[in-house]
Amino acid sequence: MRGFSIAVVAGARPNFMKIAPIVRALRERAGAALESGVDLRISIVHTGQHYDENMSEVFFRELEIPAPDRHLEVGSGSHAEQTARIMVAFEKYILWEKPDWVVVVGDVNSTIGCALPAKKLGVKVAHVEAGLRSFDMSMPEEINRKLTDAISDLLFVTEESGVRNLCAEGVAPEKVFLVGNVMIDTLLRNKAKIEGPDFIPSPAVKAFCGKGRRYAVLTLHRPSNVDSREALAPIWGVLSEIARRIPILFPVHPRTRAKIGKFGLKENGIILVDPVGSIDMLYAVKGAALVLTDSGGLQEETTVLGIPCITIRENTERPVTVTVGTNYLAGTDPGRILAAANEILTGNAKKGAVPPLWDGNASGRIADILLRQKNPEPGRS
Ligand code: UD1
Repeated sequence: MRGFSIAVVAGARPNFMKIAPIVRALRERAGAALESGVDLRISIVHTGQHYDENMSEVFFRELEIPAPDRHLEVGSGSHAEQTARIMVAFEKYILWEKPDWVVVVGDVNSTIGCALPAKKLGVKVAHVEAGLRSFDMSMPEEINRKLTDAISDLLFVTEESGVRNLCAEGVAPEKVFLVGNVMIDTLLRNKAKIEGPDFIPSPAVKAFCGKGRRYAVLTLHRPSNVDSREALAPIWGVLSEIARRIPILFPVHPRTRAKIGKFGLKENGIILVDPVGSIDMLYAVKGAALVLTDSGGLQEETTVLGIPCITIRENTERPVTVTVGTNYLAGTDPGRILAAANEILTGNAKKGAVPPLWDGNASGRIADILLRQKNPEPGRS
């Protein structure tokens, strides 16, 4: 019997949605692996980048992710502090667990913070959601993505643009696999749950969304949009204007809530609620006439759900949501945000389609490729 140990890393809210189907797909294959003489060990490492109940535990519960095998408890801090704490703690974990592969997802500090010590200790690294580029190096996520991709041994890509970007950066094509989107695996599984007879949304979400009313959903947390009054006040102004035409539900990130308070911004018809879990969020988004966001994942989820989405950013690393999907890249200019909202609210929203391979089976493809690494085909890494 040969051992094969894979450590799957998550740290921040969007990571949990991504690791859930990967861990499930790997576990589903453990029995077949055993029959073929491979003792597959799958470990989950939570870095602790996000730690509030409603930013972390609720996702483990709802998405049926097994409890982490190791919690690094790094918490918040400056980028350097947080990333450094992750690196030091994860290096110790690697030396103790000695995994064959480390799987990192997305573009948060936990992604690079774990990829780097793993690679330096000679452990293979697989990056899920590789190749996405905003070409905006002022975004911490863009730095995290580029560095993680540069040192990864397997790069799992969600959309064609990612393959092109990696190719342009000189990544060896045999490391790159276009597999689809693990966020959509989670979305489709959760969608079946909320459409089932037993689903009851949380009281806050039900009170807002469950009355057959027309409404919009907002998320906003990018430092470039919320950290300064100069950035946030004009965005808040146009959102308040839109809220006069359609009520807006805003599950608000702790970072943003603190800034709204600090800058003394009035709620103006925008209904602030605490962060909600992934299933409640899906319930709210699925029934919305419009989503306004600066998040990455929501651009993808709205595309699959066919819900019009206005992205309050100057760029997106997920261009397929604009070219194929329902996403409007409006930037942060109030006039452009309002023009997009007008188009949507007057019934003229563009009709989108679902990008190739966003079919709910990306994690299965990833698991199959990872398990092949126990016995790589000649010529494959
Ligand atoms: C991080 C990711 C971002 C992702 C977002 C999703 C990086 C560089 N950024 O940003 O890409 O879109 O997560 O939410 O990794 N806080 C709490 N409770 C928590 C977590 C954070 O109150 O459980 C507060 C703290 O004041 C903290 C601040 O939020 O300082 C920011 O948290 P942090 O993880 O550093 O970055 P995010 O803005 O959440």
